[in-house]
Amino acid sequence: MNRKYRKTVIAGNWKMNMTSNDIKSFSTEFKTLASRARWCEIILCVSFPNIPAAQRAFKDTRIAIGAQNVHHEPSGAYTGEVSAGMLAALGVRYVIIGHSERRNYCGETDELVNRKVRAALDAGLYPIICVGETLIQREMSITDELITLQIKSALSGVGADKMRRVIFAYEPVWAIGTGMTATAQEANRVGTHIRAVLRGMYGARIARSVTIQYGGSMNEENAGELLSMPDVDGGLIGGASLDPVKLAAIIDAANQ
Ligand code: PGA
Repeated sequence: MNRKYRKTVIAGNWKMNMTSNDIKSFSTEFKTLASRARWCEIILCVSFPNIPAAQRAFKDTRIAIGAQNVHHEPSGAYTGEVSAGMLAALGVRYVIIGHSERRNYCGETDELVNRKVRAALDAGLYPIICVGETLIQREMSITDELITLQIKSALSGVGADKMRRVIFAYEPVWAIGTGMTATAQEANRVGTHIRAVLRGMYGARIARSVTIQYGGSMNEENAGELLSMPDVDGGLIGGASLDPVKLAAIIDAANQ
């Protein structure tokens, strides 16, 4: 974290978990645990139908409710899809784009990620753009090249004036949901690389203001060490964010 230049952001990615009833009990328990410290921003990215219930449940807290996906067109014949404008109209600010689960299982390409990022920004949303290498790519030592490509394509056509709203999440695919975490040094090294790519695209001032999260089996035990690194500005947390005790502990670590 480097709070002098950028926001620390802890985001839970609930994936396809929780019903509206589960959210009520989660929020009741979480409110008794959450620290009052205000150093970090907290977001919970829930599935589309749960957005209103989550907004109600966390109304009197400083937790923002985000989405996990968005369509790349503003409207039209796209059965089952949700537009950025619909999210904005609900008061949603943040949306995860390009999560590896969507890249892998829903066929999201770098080009589609770019279209989604631009659609989100056009609607006034704050995209959390996920990048990261698979195990094979890591073993082939092409992590940095791959991530450079992901960043440059995600931000193609995105003007410097919009960068204030962009968050990156470095999520090594081999670490997601596996219990295997990148070491704090490795997470930081890639965070520094992401910032260097942003510096090349937008200059030093913008690059140092972008929040770069780490995601991939972050939990209450490893969060402190990961977040102590200068280029790990927060976390995108799956499994551990479903447990109020663990999420509150991670937030405590981010508030140190
Ligand atoms: P995990 O998921 O924390 O369960 O590894 C992270 C993510 O997919 O964003």
